[in-house]
Amino acid sequence: MEKLQHWPAFQVFPVRKSRSITAVITIIRCSKPRNRSACSKWSPMEKVAQAAFISSAIAITQEVARESGVGCLRHHIFLCRGPRCCSKEQGETVWKYLKERLKALGLAGRGKPVYRTKVDCLRICQNGPNVLVYPEGVWYHQVDEQKMERILQNHCIQGKPIKNEAFAINPLPIHH
Ligand code: FES
Repeated sequence: MEKLQHWPAFQVFPVRKSRSITAVITIIRCSKPRNRSACSKWSPMEKVAQAAFISSAIAITQEVARESGVGCLRHHIFLCRGPRCCSKEQGETVWKYLKERLKALGLAGRGKPVYRTKVDCLRICQNGPNVLVYPEGVWYHQVDEQKMERILQNHCIQGKPIKNEAFAINPLPIHH
């Protein structure tokens, strides 16, 4: 059983008690690496078990996403932490500030409007730390803690991108 603990979907399976014991046993058997090739020809019951396993995995992923605010988001902030556009220390300082301020302002998390992602390169590689905010596609450079605060207050809270502090604006077209 210890080997299964890194399979996140397995951890919630016990809550789905309506599934048959056979299905549970099949999942355990097929989750073991050495048995996976033997499970290439699955019986109908095994296919049911597989579907249950996949549906549990999707449910977990959806819950994790909701916990991070997915479904309610209005802005997604990408921050490059260097090392080519800025030092790792500069990038880390701004990233830490962003995380703390999003939490303090109540902007991130379940039901909240802002999502943050740190990246290793936005392919600008100068005058960093560089920050990209979607959906408006506003590219900010030389972002320090003060500038990040202005981005949060003006762009994310008031919905007004700071155009005179951006080096490029490129909203992505939406096709329906
Ligand atoms: S390293 Fe920051 S944009 Fe490339």
